[in-house]
Amino acid sequence: MISHSRPTLDQEEAAAVTRVLSSGQVSQGKEVLSFEKALATLVGASGAAAVSSGTAALHLALQALEIGEGDEVVIPSFVCTALLNAIRYVRATPVLADIDGDTFNVAVRDIKRCLTRKTRAVIVPHMFGVPADIDEITALGIPVIEDCAQSLGSCYRGAPAGSFGVLSVFSFYATKVICTGEGGMIAAKDLRLINKIRDLRDYDEKEDGGLRYNYKLTDLQAALGSVQLRRLPALIGRRRAIARQYDESLREYGLSLPVCPSDREPIYYRYVIRTERLGELLNAGHTAGIAYRRPVFKPLHRYLGLAGYPQTEKAFHTAVSIPIYPSLSDVDVRTILHHIQSFVK
Ligand SMILES: Cc1ncc(COP(=O)(O)O)c(C=O)c1O
Repeated sequence: MISHSRPTLDQEEAAAVTRVLSSGQVSQGKEVLSFEKALATLVGASGAAAVSSGTAALHLALQALEIGEGDEVVIPSFVCTALLNAIRYVRATPVLADIDGDTFNVAVRDIKRCLTRKTRAVIVPHMFGVPADIDEITALGIPVIEDCAQSLGSCYRGAPAGSFGVLSVFSFYATKVICTGEGGMIAAKDLRLINKIRDLRDYDEKEDGGLRYNYKLTDLQAALGSVQLRRLPALIGRRRAIARQYDESLREYGLSLPVCPSDREPIYYRYVIRTERLGELLNAGHTAGIAYRRPVFKPLHRYLGLAGYPQTEKAFHTAVSIPIYPSLSDVDVRTILHHIQSFVK
């Protein structure tokens, strides 16, 4: 079976984890600090705080902005439930926007439709490794939380994703751009927000007894993450090389291929094509031993019982994510291409 996604791990990662294991210091410590520094530098932030997942990062980002009951947070409908859950954790109200049919990113005009006096933030995921229309969104004047879970290393008009929002969040889940098994990070230019998050992620030895969490990342995970971060250019390079092969070989087959505006540098976290025969393609892949997937399991408006969202609905019915990750072999890439080409013919 060709997996839909897989981490890319090597001897260097194994050596880093073994080194930390033998040191005896395996919980949050200096490895976490240096991982935080490296990521903050990469995205042009003043600081970053590592946490246990991307979901925890979203939760603490909302907490740091003091968003709670009665506040509204705008998110796209075509995204995983982690965003919805984080908003529910703080008892705020999610307001869903439709997406842009070409890029799968949140549509700026639909964010505008969602704004009310209660809007306290917009969470903007850069979907599938393609940066969203972030300048136009920040120009709306609402605090933006950039969700870079799928887009570490991508650029918008020459600046890294994660350098535009009041806060930016990252995920290092096993199959993300870089992995620590589970893990996340929040970066910001305002160090007061980062300090607040550092306080919230750790419950121990606090004088005031206020609500805190255990959302810490371990040194074992951070050592792994630091190696992955150093390898990021190579990891992205391989993703782009596979994407080029897919582009060149699938162009003439009448499928809609990924779209990225020319002022952005995508990283191809996912390679999402569109076909009216989605169900058939998923089944044909299963039979052929290739794991194609819906890139979003179920749009959020469906969970909330809301109607509308025509572009999200269209994406739900036509979008298929085909395997793309650095450890995907050339042979597997050819197998996938042949399979799709013969499916379309
Ligand atoms: C856009 C986006 N945000 C947040 C998350 C949540 O990250 P985690 O799985 O680390 O909690 C994901 C995970 O799939 C994601 O794709």
